Amino acid sequence: MTSRQRFLAACRCAPLARPPVWFMRQAGRWLPEYRALKATRSFVDIVRTPDLATEATLQPLRRFPFDAAILFSDILVVPEALGHPYHFLEGGGGVRLESHVRTAADIDALPPATTIPGNLGYMGEAMRQVRGELGDRTALLGFAGAPWTIATYLAGDGGPAGAGALLALERENPAAFHALMERLADAATACLRVQIDNGADAVQIFDSWAALADSPGDATAYERRSLSWIRRVITALPPGTPVILFAKGVPRHAGAFATSGATVYSADAAASLPALRPLLGPRIALQGNLPPDLLLPENPPETLRAATRALLGSMHATPGHILNLAHGVPPSASLGNAEALFEELAAHDARP
Ligand code: CP3
Repeated sequence: MTSRQRFLAACRCAPLARPPVWFMRQAGRWLPEYRALKATRSFVDIVRTPDLATEATLQPLRRFPFDAAILFSDILVVPEALGHPYHFLEGGGGVRLESHVRTAADIDALPPATTIPGNLGYMGEAMRQVRGELGDRTALLGFAGAPWTIATYLAGDGGPAGAGALLALERENPAAFHALMERLADAATACLRVQIDNGADAVQIFDSWAALADSPGDATAYERRSLSWIRRVITALPPGTPVILFAKGVPRHAGAFATSGATVYSADAAASLPALRPLLGPRIALQGNLPPDLLLPENPPETLRAATRALLGSMHATPGHILNLAHGVPPSASLGNAEALFEELAAHDARP
């Protein structure tokens, strides 16, 4: 069985001796070969140059037997394609967009989603190039931000500042908030279509700031501000494309993801995968959810091994698991710890 077959079988909840594995943010600063590439070119340059994006996508696969590659890119290419370019502050200091979208006039000035395929031509080309290198052996993933998470960056560079601006917009001008989310849903859909049309086997939607769309006293807040727009994206994708949904910090809405249209639910560290199974039903696969901190060099590989064994054991009887972290690989992750995880997975596979 190839890695690609294994990955697609897990998305369909078919039984497997071992789950497929990949890591969110598997490319990037934890790899010395990525740091060497970054010494010569900026992040935005790497993303926009198909040869370099291909190289960065393949780097983690040369080092570890990942079953899936994820295109080297960023959720911020959508704001950029809509006329709001980004850059990173030195030393992991976060993101800055060169201009923001906060008023009805800013929203009206956004170009229509029909301009996205043209503006993301480099992304389709990188996808085709990676597909050519992988052939049909390894699964290839595309991704985009959830409309709400993209909006937090457009409104205020992500996180609490961006979410605060969006909540004010929703309060003061609900029609404008609605119009913004509709445009971002269509833009995210167009971005994912570029990837699917050029060879992605599956796509992941990152709702990294989901928690900031939720309000404890408002039962419909997350549905209204985020999940309904994710559903709009998923519904507009070609039927049959597996969609993985990662929503961070909203465990109380886990059951609602059964109605999102997603094929796979990617759990954060707060969730227990076996406990999610009855909430989501037998047909939605589960991805996750080892704590990323276990990859840090201060944590001995034995701790990660034990956590991997426990997770694989807890999911062994339940088809539909993709092994992953609960969030992205930390930049200071230890390569040795990751090796220990792959050894544990191989030992699990070899069990009688
Ligand atoms: O997973 C992969 O290997 C594919 C590449 C990928 C990147 N970003 C590359 C990247 C993916 C899937 C993303 C998604 C992304 N980008 C998310 C959702 C996932 C998550 O972590 O919640 C978000 C919120 C972003 C936005 C973003 N990109 C931020 C806030 C930052 C700056 C913080 C940081 O980590 O430096 C980035 C930068 C970024 N995106 C880097 C990489 C490899 C680091 C840039 C560098 O090389 O310095």
